Amino acid sequence: MTPSRRAVIASSLALAACRGQAQTPPAPLTLPPLKRVAPFPVGAAISVGALEDPAYRALLLANFSQVTADWEMKMEQILQSDGTFSFAKADLIAEFARENGLRLHGHNLIWYIYSPEPFQRVAGDRSAFERAYANYILAVAGRYRGQAVGWDVVNEPVAEDGEGYRDCLWRQALGMNYVATALKYARQADPEAVLFLNDYNLESNPKKRATFLRLVEDLMKQGAPLGGLGTQTHLEADLAPGAIKAAIRDLAATGLKIHVSEFDVTLQGHPLTSRAAKLNGQARLAGEAAEALAALPSAQRYAFTTWGVRDKDSWLRHAPNAGDGDDSPLFFDDDGRPKAAAAAFERALGRS
Ligand code: XIL
Repeated sequence: MTPSRRAVIASSLALAACRGQAQTPPAPLTLPPLKRVAPFPVGAAISVGALEDPAYRALLLANFSQVTADWEMKMEQILQSDGTFSFAKADLIAEFARENGLRLHGHNLIWYIYSPEPFQRVAGDRSAFERAYANYILAVAGRYRGQAVGWDVVNEPVAEDGEGYRDCLWRQALGMNYVATALKYARQADPEAVLFLNDYNLESNPKKRATFLRLVEDLMKQGAPLGGLGTQTHLEADLAPGAIKAAIRDLAATGLKIHVSEFDVTLQGHPLTSRAAKLNGQARLAGEAAEALAALPSAQRYAFTTWGVRDKDSWLRHAPNAGDGDDSPLFFDDDGRPKAAAAAFERALGRS
């Protein structure tokens, strides 16, 4: 073929490509399994319902080495209105983890949003309340003793705006000591599990992070059996570069284990920003979070957990958080294909 003919063909292909006529879709990403690349356990929030899908189970087992129950181990599921406990759903999660050699992270024992009837009935009697409080924590954490590698003992203790701590039934009944008391009973129930405080917006709200760390410091000073800090890392795609690194740096300065405990990056909101730009932001943040956790001493790298497996499994695709219904917050798309965020996560770890 003469050079001029080759040039003509090349330029016409280029022109057609510019017009989108000859564009071929980008080749689907093929990545090594996440858990093979990471120098820490890679976890996912799972649910009993999602486990019924064989494709979901295959994707989960290929990429993740740790699981957290999305809701089955929460008080709303376990504590019945008559004060009895139902572990049926929680046991299904634990059994799946055990059968598949997955680490199990317990979530969560005490959360400000719950004020169930059995506790309200004794709210006026401090010793009765503490007995019920102890009984619940001992029963739940005790049930998975020897299997749960860690527990979110108190979830989201800091006020939304970072000004002080949440008002909740637990604090009304026991004072702020409800946190240390929960840690005490969790340690009594399970001598081995790493006991966590877990909260969100610690990256985007330095005041909230400082208030969280003041509580941590108080607990450590009083010798509470606190072993780790969970930063949920539910992010927006435009979070400033460096915010994740600063948060993990500050949390790790305590010397405690660090869990990126509920990673996702929503594409909801910011209507003026294109979906493509938000997906780029999502990938940037996945890389920064991976790099920040990998940079810690190995003894402090507890795990990196995404809050779901595929986009369609995300809590951000289901009421009441579903927004426009087509959020894409995780590492795998609805069909289980890895996204740019997964590639950025692995690239960052390859550099670490
Ligand atoms: C969410 C679950 O994903 C939803 O399925 C449920 O309806 C509400 O709770 N921070 C937490 C998690 O600590 O427990 C929440 O999980 C998400 C925010």
